Amino acid sequence: MVMLNRRTLLKAGAVAGAYGAGLAIAGGFRTAAAAPMTLTSAETTAALKEGQPTKGIMTWNDGPQPPLLRLKQGEPFAARLVNKLNEPTTIHWHGLRIDNKMDGVPFLTQPYVYTNDTFDYAFTPPDAGTFWYHPHCNTLVQMGRGMTGMLIVENPKDPAFDQEVVLNVRDWRLGGDNQFIAAFKPRDSAKAGTYGTYRTANWQDDPVYDVPAGGIVRIRLAITDVTRIYSFGMDGADAMVIALDGNPVAEPFPLDRYQAGPGQRIELVLRVPDTEGAIAALTNYRTSPSYPLARFRAKGTSLKRDLRDVKALPANPVSWPVVKGAEVVPLELTATAEGAPVKESFCGSLGYNFWAINKVPWSGDTSDPTAPLAELKLGKTYILRLANRTPHAHPIHLHGMSFQVLSSTQGEVRPIFTDTYLIQPDEVADLGLVADNPGDWVIHCHIIEHQKTGMTAFLRVV
Ligand code: C2O
Ligand code: CU
Repeated sequence: MVMLNRRTLLKAGAVAGAYGAGLAIAGGFRTAAAAPMTLTSAETTAALKEGQPTKGIMTWNDGPQPPLLRLKQGEPFAARLVNKLNEPTTIHWHGLRIDNKMDGVPFLTQPYVYTNDTFDYAFTPPDAGTFWYHPHCNTLVQMGRGMTGMLIVENPKDPAFDQEVVLNVRDWRLGGDNQFIAAFKPRDSAKAGTYGTYRTANWQDDPVYDVPAGGIVRIRLAITDVTRIYSFGMDGADAMVIALDGNPVAEPFPLDRYQAGPGQRIELVLRVPDTEGAIAALTNYRTSPSYPLARFRAKGTSLKRDLRDVKALPANPVSWPVVKGAEVVPLELTATAEGAPVKESFCGSLGYNFWAINKVPWSGDTSDPTAPLAELKLGKTYILRLANRTPHAHPIHLHGMSFQVLSSTQGEVRPIFTDTYLIQPDEVADLGLVADNPGDWVIHCHIIEHQKTGMTAFLRVV
């Protein structure tokens, strides 16, 4: 006969309780947890460019390009990070509104993952769209060397397209021998940032994709570069923007020199030319001369689709801000007077401060006790009044919550929901936010040198 003592009774009770709670919370979602996939961070050598292979590329799993993750909206996902790098790392799931404990920010939400250690991530993505993932430790090096992967959350209710192409757009800082050179130059960090020397889409220089002639192709694009701001156009064909930063736009609009910066995503519908062999080129017009990032070549006989038939994608379940009477949280971006070197810290600082938010320079990803920028009450609406007092544009990214663009001193805005706002020099923008996800959430410039030299802060939601 089994003797029940107090300890086993308690254990049995706890299990029953958790089981009951799990059933109650699960609601309409699938209750079974997802089988975890493994993401092994490691260094590799690969031919990025013609000539010598590049050593010290950082990635997860086997390819030089990190695996493309495909999740389903409202369905659990789990991944075990196994760290085989010679330095600590974490994974941040950029744009996903998930539990703070899964956000991947050292000290603020989890410990570093040391060499040979593991960390288990598990979450259910509430929104469908185009997202990405990257480390939040020594990010200028780890991301600069390749740890920027695409993450797509599918919605089975999305309209059908003839094909889908996923584009991960970024540069590399390689020397003439194809080996990595210094990740940054301090005097450039104090300006727009240090640019790469080799421009790619999906780790290739101007790749060509075969797509059905006369078809409509969904292009999911993410800017995962650490510095570069782009101005996108489609040369040789029409394309419509259907989603920005993981959220559908209410009314699709033509792609015409659309500006977006590091961290941001654009979903396009391309109407492929009718003639077999004709080329459409996704082009960056922000540089002079402009250059093609990727090309699309028409194949077969025309499907004769019409771009005007493309419907808006279903909206994500994001809370709308109740703007009337909402409290304003000022967020002022400035250059700091202290250009002098500061203490280096492994996951955080680059050794300099050039930037500040509300006068406080902080590089984040460190154990130093910095106070939150503001404490927000769970469920309340706030207006983040983002003011750019610098002569450079900054893609400002908030973790864990989406905000709505309300207004700008630059003129009309699209009232989109986003996690990253590209603010222009001298612009002041009002961003509406429902503080509906508890925890400490970093907000920072996604030009990583700016982030790591002071343009970082965090908001606390309680
Ligand atoms: Cu994609 Cu804290 O960043
Ligand atoms: Cu910046």
